[in-house]
Amino acid sequence: MKFINQFIVYLVKILPKLIVHIFAKRYIAGETLQDAIHVIKALNAKGIVATIDVLGEATRTKEEAEEEKKECIRVLEKIDENKLAAHLSVKPTSLGLTIDKDFCYKQIFEIVTKAKEFHTFVRLDMENSPYTDATFELHCKLRKDFDNVGVAVQSYLKRTIDDVRNLNKEHTNYRLCKGIYNEPKEIAYKDKQTIRNNYIEALKLMLDNSNYVGIATHDTYLLNTAYKLIKEKNIPETMFEFQMLYGVTDHLRDKINADGYKIRIYVPYGVHWYAYALRRMQENPEIAWFVVKSLFSFIKKRKVKSWHF
Ligand code: FDA
Repeated sequence: MKFINQFIVYLVKILPKLIVHIFAKRYIAGETLQDAIHVIKALNAKGIVATIDVLGEATRTKEEAEEEKKECIRVLEKIDENKLAAHLSVKPTSLGLTIDKDFCYKQIFEIVTKAKEFHTFVRLDMENSPYTDATFELHCKLRKDFDNVGVAVQSYLKRTIDDVRNLNKEHTNYRLCKGIYNEPKEIAYKDKQTIRNNYIEALKLMLDNSNYVGIATHDTYLLNTAYKLIKEKNIPETMFEFQMLYGVTDHLRDKINADGYKIRIYVPYGVHWYAYALRRMQENPEIAWFVVKSLFSFIKKRKVKSWHF
């Protein structure tokens, strides 16, 4: 089954971008900031909060990274102008981490300063393992000046429990997720239940130390365990929230909202949607299957012999 899934994902990768876009749409608010604002207004109307992500991976030049920063600041201005219940998520590599650490720090410093002015918050997404230490360093440095910044940690990494013990000393505001990148087995757990167990252990450590936690998962096993822990430990509602990705398990999102818990949706937008959409499909090969099947029925119906988009 694993092999078939990998093959399907490979097929999706070689499909024309236009076709992938038809199916990727469910995970992305759109290409413009206005599209994200539109989506967030609808979520806010239901009592659901959001975090906005400007889609983009590692930038190659300082000019590109500066453009990313300007867009992040525009997002913060629009959050304020539209009175959105939303904050901002950023990927350090899109802000220049691979180019120059100090430059990246200055860029994020500017963003967090602006966020502070607007009484909002900035989350550092956690990217793949070459950037784990550098991201924690950035976070640690920023925490010295700001309380409106936090970081994501990944339960598939073997180092995570140690990281959480260290970060607890800084009174960190966390997002806890499983992790999405394909990491080597030497540093990352591969077994589903081990990743879950590590998630729960990390969550307990965070809650026991009175840290704010964004519980980011769509896994009902983890959601049920989190519900149980919150009740058992009598954790106040001001100390946690649930988080999910836009377009994934809306029924669980609505249930958590109906249960009266805070739920935040990660809303990505931008022209660089392709890599993000592929990652979402890799997570859920059923979607990739659906893409391939739909493509073939489309070709059959239209009697298309070849495609060139
Ligand atoms: P799991 O993958 O087991 O999914 C549980 C169920 O959710 C599936 O069985 C399926 O029903 C559904 N599901 C999951 N993905 C789906 C999809 N794409 N389409 C449809 N259904 C789907 N990672 C990272 O490395 N760094 C980061 O900074 C972040 N940030 C982040 C923010 C937020 C708000 C979330 C929710 C997630 C992240 N992630 C992340 C991604 C995270 O690490 C992880 O890859 C996904 O959340 C999937 O893991 P789950 O815990 O949801 O479990």
